[in-house]
Amino acid sequence: MCGIIGITGRPDAVDGIVAGLTRLEYRGYDSAGIVTNDGRDLRVVKRAGKLQQLVKALEAQPLATSTGIGHTRWATHGEPTDRNAHPHVDPSGRVAVVHNGIIENYQALKAELGDARFASETDTEVTAHLVARELDRQPEDARDLLAAVRAVVARLQGAYSLCFVALDAPDEIVVAKHEAPLIVAHADGVGYCASDVAALIAHTREVAALLDGQFARIAPDGVEVVDVHGEPVEPHRYEVDWDLAAAEKQGFPHFMLKEIHEQPQAIADTLRDRLTVPPNGGGPRLYLDELRIDEHELGSIDKVFILACGTSLHAGMVGKLAIEHWAGIPVDVEVASEFRYRDPIVDPHTLVIAISQSGETIDTIAGASYARDQRAPVIALVNVVGSTLAREADGVLYTHAGPEVAVASTKAFTTQLIGCLLLGLFLGQVRGRLFASEAEDILARLQSVPEAVQQVLELDAQIAALAERYHDVDYTMFIGRHTGLPIAYEGALKLKEISYLHAEAFPAGEMKHGPIALIEQGSLVVALAPAGRVFGKMVSNIQEVRARGAAVLAIGTEGSTAELKAHADDVLTLPEPPHELAGPVLSVVPLQLFSYHVATLRGEDVDQPRNLAKTVTVE
Ligand code: G6P
Repeated sequence: MCGIIGITGRPDAVDGIVAGLTRLEYRGYDSAGIVTNDGRDLRVVKRAGKLQQLVKALEAQPLATSTGIGHTRWATHGEPTDRNAHPHVDPSGRVAVVHNGIIENYQALKAELGDARFASETDTEVTAHLVARELDRQPEDARDLLAAVRAVVARLQGAYSLCFVALDAPDEIVVAKHEAPLIVAHADGVGYCASDVAALIAHTREVAALLDGQFARIAPDGVEVVDVHGEPVEPHRYEVDWDLAAAEKQGFPHFMLKEIHEQPQAIADTLRDRLTVPPNGGGPRLYLDELRIDEHELGSIDKVFILACGTSLHAGMVGKLAIEHWAGIPVDVEVASEFRYRDPIVDPHTLVIAISQSGETIDTIAGASYARDQRAPVIALVNVVGSTLAREADGVLYTHAGPEVAVASTKAFTTQLIGCLLLGLFLGQVRGRLFASEAEDILARLQSVPEAVQQVLELDAQIAALAERYHDVDYTMFIGRHTGLPIAYEGALKLKEISYLHAEAFPAGEMKHGPIALIEQGSLVVALAPAGRVFGKMVSNIQEVRARGAAVLAIGTEGSTAELKAHADDVLTLPEPPHELAGPVLSVVPLQLFSYHVATLRGEDVDQPRNLAKTVTVE
């Protein structure tokens, strides 16, 4: 939600900020703006609409200085208009701010400023007023932006990464972080900050992530990081392990399509080098990227909670199947935003697995930290290296999918599915339910998944033809059982989020308890029907909806499609997975492609669907 970038120390700072905003636009895209600081004036250009509107405005009204900050917005307080777009400037024009997050006590702070004139309806603007007031209170010959920002931030409630410039400090950018991501960097005499490494990758791969409660003064001669007391601290430094090419479309019309096609490679990367020979002998064992929990502690786990949101939640549903199957531990899968507001029974024998592509989703982070407060071990299944969730967890399994830019998650999901299988095998091994050799054998079988996904991608022309046939349906219902159910949920989410078609998912067996009343002529039912333990039941459910007028598109496997062809209007045949729990990795791919083609046929903006943002850092 909202992307921030700041650059100081290069004459083409404005170009760098605009280029960075294009990489951050996935975080929010209802308005964008930029402010430059040449020590005499703060010059602001901001526009409602996609970043392109700002680019056009900058062509008409070029800005040039070596210091500036920029923002791309996902509106929370105040509609997406020019005046609510960031940056916001105090009335005297000496301090400007961009912000990601929500200042919860902004009304009280505004009231304190009496009859001050506010130019926007945002929660953010008040911080510029307050920092300007703090600067006024400092001695004229010793104005210190960092000290002023610290004084103001001490009074804020909510979640924020904030980025300020002021006429009093022409080469400086000062940032503050609390529960919203912020990266800082310094390279070749230029200082940078951004919400995400994607915005900085063109300039440097050496970055540092600020921790909550940290502040930074960014200047051409270096970056100074301090804590709430102003004491110098070391931020979390790391090197980004991907390059600029990974963050570009590389000839594909959309990031989503590129990312769908990257799945064979991404899955292979997630599976790579997962076996290690323990130093004290014995056969090879599965391992996670970082494990700061004693394996004996994991042996005494009696319950697992999986916490996640959106697509990651659907991966968690497969995680439940895998952990219960291989490790024999009961698992609850929880919407992270619900978990934290009830009274879940969590103790040191509960393992919490937090799944998140970004590692920055506020509800997932908050759920995981609640669990840690109860002394429950937390394992994060995360894509973004160095993200908040990865840093705060006791153990991390990275999905190694590379940067995912499209709002609709694809390769992050399939690699999360693989991560869930690995976690199931890992816990089965730790708890002695699986011999290391069994885990090794299953892992060896999983190595064929990338090739099988490649075969599914080759069905693209057939899937595009199905999209052509069905892109105007009134209502779409996705149904599945067992491994098919999480993919039914994910298929419906993909379709609704990028094509805006009304799509819902139900356990196939639940349809008769209500949802089947929705079925009529003109409805489409997408049925996940692989060969296996629930195939016969799925066939019955397909017949039930077909008898009520729905067209049925069945996603089957080599072992099931002969029979499906007798019952469904259209059948897609996927390869048999190397293990039934790996089936979802294959069956989601045609649904990703189907949604993609439906959305493009309907003329929708696939990579930036309305009302959504890729990383949700507000509640
Ligand atoms: C947003 C994105 C989804 C994503 C969800 C959770 O809603 O649009 O694609 O699944 O957040 O994000 P996370 O980064 O925690 O996986």
